[in-house]
Amino acid sequence: MKGLILSGGSGRRLRPLTHTSAKQLVPIANVPILHYVVADLVGVGITDIGIVVGDTGNEVRASVGDGSRWGASVTYIDQEAPLGLAHAVKVAEGFLGDEPFAMYLGDNMFEDSLDEVVEGFDGSVAARLLLAHVDDPSSFGVAEMASDGSIAALFEKPAEPPSDLALVGVYLFGPRIHEAVRAIEPSARGELEITDAIQWLLDSGETVEHRVLDGWWIDTGKKDPLLACNRLVLDRLGGDGVVVDDGAEIVDSTLVGPVVVAAGARILHSTVGPYVSVGGDCSIERSTVEHSVLMQGASVTGLDHLTASVLGREAEVSGVPGESVRVSLLLGDHSVVDVGGSGGCTDG
Ligand code: TTP
Repeated sequence: MKGLILSGGSGRRLRPLTHTSAKQLVPIANVPILHYVVADLVGVGITDIGIVVGDTGNEVRASVGDGSRWGASVTYIDQEAPLGLAHAVKVAEGFLGDEPFAMYLGDNMFEDSLDEVVEGFDGSVAARLLLAHVDDPSSFGVAEMASDGSIAALFEKPAEPPSDLALVGVYLFGPRIHEAVRAIEPSARGELEITDAIQWLLDSGETVEHRVLDGWWIDTGKKDPLLACNRLVLDRLGGDGVVVDDGAEIVDSTLVGPVVVAAGARILHSTVGPYVSVGGDCSIERSTVEHSVLMQGASVTGLDHLTASVLGREAEVSGVPGESVRVSLLLGDHSVVDVGGSGGCTDG
């Protein structure tokens, strides 16, 4: 079985971060999301992996490379524009050939291994879907279940969902999916929808199996789920949950686990944690930071306190020492925010 990771897309829901970088490379506990995805596929024995990329392809290539670090072989597939999940399958047809494959959305993360999901799938049935019970089905592709427990129909972001069972980010397909993606037309939002392709399989009398997910699953494409994912992954840290890489400097500060601090980071006169991932070369001075992801080189100075925030690379946030204000931010790379807003005026 091959793997197909979708790492293009437009990432509108994570702007401004995605103006300059790929959302699939945002670090969770200081490891890019996409690296967890590759490792998950390799973990179930899938090592021949295609990665669909768009505008951020170069950055994705630089981060994942040829896959040899995971014992995988990675082929990059360019998608000229984010024209939908089924379009991504279409552009990957040359890579996939007639083999069964696991399609994995490159910004999704799962608690459990995919062992039970892929077990026994050889492409002789057209598809196997992964479903999860969700609170807000109208934001997802939703399955309508038949009385025998099989999938009767699929609906993309339905106003009146027929169930609370949403399609989640891993799909297994046999080769008939290629016929399906060729047969369907773009939806009202201009995308080739994977739900339409699967509906085409159902309408053609093909078998579409499903599994219902037990563990957590997160689509990290928005700030709050991304931070929730960071919390869940940090919760797996053992001991006191404080991991400081060699080459990080901690001076007169309190780290409240779980928290990870990468090499080159400096934390001075601050309280950091719980649930903070501090990337390489970040700087936190005279500040309090909790529930946040700080990407490479970000800095927080004189701010009490920063919470529920994602700071892009080299982003700079400053506050007024001695003044307490609770701030939550989503900042793109190189952003500069002065929470004190003094406008450069000084007393005296
Ligand atoms: P989405 O998160 O559904 O789409 P998006 O990236 O366009 O995000 P937004 O809605 O915030 O603008 O995509 C799921 C995954 O699939 C994600 O990793 C991006 C990827 N993708 C592609 O590779 N090609 C595509 O054409 C689309 C739509 C998504």
